[in-house]
Amino acid sequence: MFVALERLINLQEGYRRGFTVAGRDLLLLVIDDRPLLLENRCPHQGAPLTNATLIGSILRCSRHGVEFDLGSGRPLSVQCPALRRFNLVYDGDRIGIDV
Ligand code: FES
Repeated sequence: MFVALERLINLQEGYRRGFTVAGRDLLLLVIDDRPLLLENRCPHQGAPLTNATLIGSILRCSRHGVEFDLGSGRPLSVQCPALRRFNLVYDGDRIGIDV
């Protein structure tokens, strides 16, 4: 089932917004004009990533400063799982997720 998250026209560079879909916290970002959907939960110790700092293609969690490469999702400095990414689905003028 398609669940719409946002209208395409609203996806500008720098866009960042959290959603909860089917009990899962998600974070939709636009980086380099491309939308990216992540679990809004740091793989280190679970902090939300809504206020994480973006430095190029690196996302730094605000809780303990662990940095993640957004290309691979992998952490740069500590041993912890990678960021969890979800496939985005387009439907007309909207973007969303299949659940
Ligand atoms: S919870 Fe994100 S760096 Fe520790």
